[in-house]
Amino acid sequence: MTSPATTTPHVALVTGANKGVGNAIARQLAAQGITVFLGARNEERGRKAAAELSAEGHDVRFVHLDVTDGTTAGLAAQRIEEESGRLDILVNNAGMSTPWHTPSQTPTDDVRQSFETNVLGVITVTNAMLPLLRRSQAARIVNISSVIGSLTAAAENHDPTGVFSDGEFPNTLGYPVSKAALNAVTIMYANELRAEGILVNAVSPNWVPTDATHHTGLLTLEQGVVLPVRMATLPDGGPTGTYTCSDDTGKGLTLPW
Ligand SMILES: NC(=O)c1ccc[n+]([C@@H]2O[C@H](COP(=O)([O-])OP(=O)(O)OC[C@H]3O[C@@H](n4cnc5c(N)ncnc54)[C@H](OP(=O)(O)O)[C@@H]3O)[C@@H](O)[C@H]2O)c1
Repeated sequence: MTSPATTTPHVALVTGANKGVGNAIARQLAAQGITVFLGARNEERGRKAAAELSAEGHDVRFVHLDVTDGTTAGLAAQRIEEESGRLDILVNNAGMSTPWHTPSQTPTDDVRQSFETNVLGVITVTNAMLPLLRRSQAARIVNISSVIGSLTAAAENHDPTGVFSDGEFPNTLGYPVSKAALNAVTIMYANELRAEGILVNAVSPNWVPTDATHHTGLLTLEQGVVLPVRMATLPDGGPTGTYTCSDDTGKGLTLPW
């Protein structure tokens, strides 16, 4: 993880990048000279965010992408192909949560909505982008997960990141179960794509201030995205099929599945 990539990445797509974690990842990738396609489902918010990052001197291009809509994913792939010919980095960041209830009080539709975005959306976008990723010499896929998706942490009622106190690990269905499924999806893609040198990893930014967390957190947004960005720019032969979390040392923690 310390030596430079043998092939410098040039083109990245970050989903849900108009704000929050995705926006911070887009900024850090673009600051490395990478052309970033900034995916957003809302045109106005996406164009504004891309314009702000471009004004910082980066090559950031808005692309319309609602991860729950396969048509927009196909059109986004077509656009990236026309403008760049390939994709080196895919960051599946777009995510959502429904209100947290105990399992017995959770409406099935809340679980369905969480899966639509956090799991099926990742599959839709990944499959749309894979032909372009396969044209890269060093393709990387980062799925933005959460410690809340750790089944081990749930079973032990213990959060290895220390965000939740012992005995208070969230016991709810929609968001945690969707992130656990995302972790499973990450392993499956990592296994399929390992032989092609495409590295696929699940990474949590830890707990960082965004709209989703009502701007509370343990790390700053910038600290939280250092590890996702590192996993997006891994050198050849780097790890694949891993599940890690940002920490305040910058090194990152390995999470139990
Ligand atoms: N913040 C944390 O502490 C934390 C911790 C662990 C994991 N995460 C993960 O980090 C990722 C980003 O979260 P965040 O904290 O940055 O939340 P956020 O501020 O609410 O941002 C979520 C982003 O996802 C986009 N999005 C939602 N549904 C989408 C869809 N169907 N298609 C395209 N984009 C969609 C949102 O777009 P709109 O603006 O249009 O709604 C927004 O850009 C999520 O996967 C989340 O689970 C965050």
